[in-house]
Amino acid sequence: MDNEKIKHIINYYNKKEEERCPFPTGIIKVNLKTLETNIKKIHNFANKKAGKKLLFLLPVKGNAYGAGITAVAKFAEHTNLCDYLGVAHLQEAYLLIQEKIKKPILILAQSPITKSGIKYTVKHSIEHAVSDLNFLYKLDKEGQKQEKKVNIHLDIDTGMGRSGVLVDDVLSIINKIKKLKYIHLKGVMTHFPVSDANTKKAIKYTSQQIKKLVSLKTIISQIFKHKIIFHSANSGAALEYPDSLFDMIRPGIAVYGYPEPYGNALKLQFNPVMEIESEITLIKTYPPRHSIGYGRTYITKNKEHIAIVPLGYGDGLNRKLSNNFYFVVNNKKVKSVGRISMDQFCIKVNSKTKTGDKVLIVSRKHHNTARQLAEAIDTIPNEVICNLGNATRLRHKYIYQTK
Ligand SMILES: Cc1ncc(COP(=O)(O)O)c(C=O)c1O
Repeated sequence: MDNEKIKHIINYYNKKEEERCPFPTGIIKVNLKTLETNIKKIHNFANKKAGKKLLFLLPVKGNAYGAGITAVAKFAEHTNLCDYLGVAHLQEAYLLIQEKIKKPILILAQSPITKSGIKYTVKHSIEHAVSDLNFLYKLDKEGQKQEKKVNIHLDIDTGMGRSGVLVDDVLSIINKIKKLKYIHLKGVMTHFPVSDANTKKAIKYTSQQIKKLVSLKTIISQIFKHKIIFHSANSGAALEYPDSLFDMIRPGIAVYGYPEPYGNALKLQFNPVMEIESEITLIKTYPPRHSIGYGRTYITKNKEHIAIVPLGYGDGLNRKLSNNFYFVVNNKKVKSVGRISMDQFCIKVNSKTKTGDKVLIVSRKHHNTARQLAEAIDTIPNEVICNLGNATRLRHKYIYQTK
């Protein structure tokens, strides 16, 4: 794809973001070049392992893990980086349809089932993972109304314990699908709860799940004459379980830059796509023994310069980072002091720091990557980037830069 087209996409979405959020309290920089490189790395790696070109579903659910669903989807579509876009719910599919996305959209989770939702799904040929008969019949009925075949992917619960048909019920539902005139079984899928964990127990569990899908694949393929897309691999599986690759892969967190750091993920070196920065809006100099913020959890020891950053838990910055994390100002570590409040937090700076100086909240390479933030509050990078990336007071800024 030519650079002019990329420039056009970037300008278009940056302008949209400027209009949506003219007075941002922070910027979420999204490097689409890094996203492209990460996608190519994992796709090429998996293709090699599979010995064929696999289809690629790009998960853009959760607002593209915080990177911005429409811009990421449009970029991936125009650069032909994916064959499918994966969302969790109909509302996200709606955003893509509004944006005139042409790639097939697969809804991976079960959205609320409403009449208008089913009508919309069928009208716009949105594909849906199916986990139960009730939903299947509703789709079939709407297909009949609109005189249109409805593409579904049968979700099989091989051990995820969330959505999906239990393995023992697969054959019975398959036989029902076969009889439904307006349902077309386009795909069969499963999902893994521990494919990213490098423990013996997790490896055994995931391998057993894969085996279950392999044997069901043989049976299902005999029942249907047409080619069915089998898919299961999220990031962990695409990187570590060649038998899970089937026909299509669905890696999310690796392409946004934070696969679990072991094995092939380390060899391939994925880079974070997002960086989040804000700026200092106020600096105050306090005498010793002055308390800072709610709960009086920090008391100045000496004369101290305390700066305000206009970002808080209302923007997804977890309150547990209070007094417990170092951010970056002018390439130097600065400590969070006092409680993080809803809309602002404090950092301890030096006498040279000025109002307007940039504060790196989530960096790509310092000590405050999303993984390090996540570790400080006992969660996963996915949650960190989703929470901050979905903050309405922050503005996305798209770039396409080779570092
Ligand atoms: C059904 C499904 N497939 C694929 C993914 C992508 O997973 P990951 O981000 O671990 O690669 C998810 C995300 O949770 C998912 O729910």
